[in-house]
Amino acid sequence: MASSLTNSHSSSQYGSNPVKEGEVRVNEMGSEIVEGYTCKPKDYDPERPIMHYKTLLLLCDDERCGKAGKDDRATHLREILKDMGLNKGENRIKVSRTGCYGACRFRQVCQVTENTQANGNDKNNALWLRNTHKFKDDKWREIFTMLSENRVLVEELDSEVFIPMKVYN
Ligand code: FES
Repeated sequence: MASSLTNSHSSSQYGSNPVKEGEVRVNEMGSEIVEGYTCKPKDYDPERPIMHYKTLLLLCDDERCGKAGKDDRATHLREILKDMGLNKGENRIKVSRTGCYGACRFRQVCQVTENTQANGNDKNNALWLRNTHKFKDDKWREIFTMLSENRVLVEELDSEVFIPMKVYN
């Protein structure tokens, strides 16, 4: 079977688009991807750095939060980010799944972290969003735009989206 070489810049690196038999695809880091996977590199290189991200969204996908939404939310958000061109580059927003934060009553919980060692905005760092499974795509796009522009979320979003945190004086 003939092989075709595809760079994941022009095809889905994430989501439900694994490499098909006979197809050769490389991920964002330039590594050839294992057949049946969406971004897993074929050759392990311990010296290769992780990809830059400006913002990291840690989305709880454990028992309660995972069941709050109907779909695979992390994959869906990655697809939106790809569509917006924010899945790569200087303002990349990365989405990772996590286990339970012990804050299930606020499900589906999502923590916003910023790469403050690079171009992240510390005012958006360590924010916690709640009921994110209820956010429509437009809401996520709005949030992603704000994050990519380093706008301060607490100044623009309704306070109800944030999980309050106990502050010690
Ligand atoms: S399952 Fe998400 S905080 Fe517990």
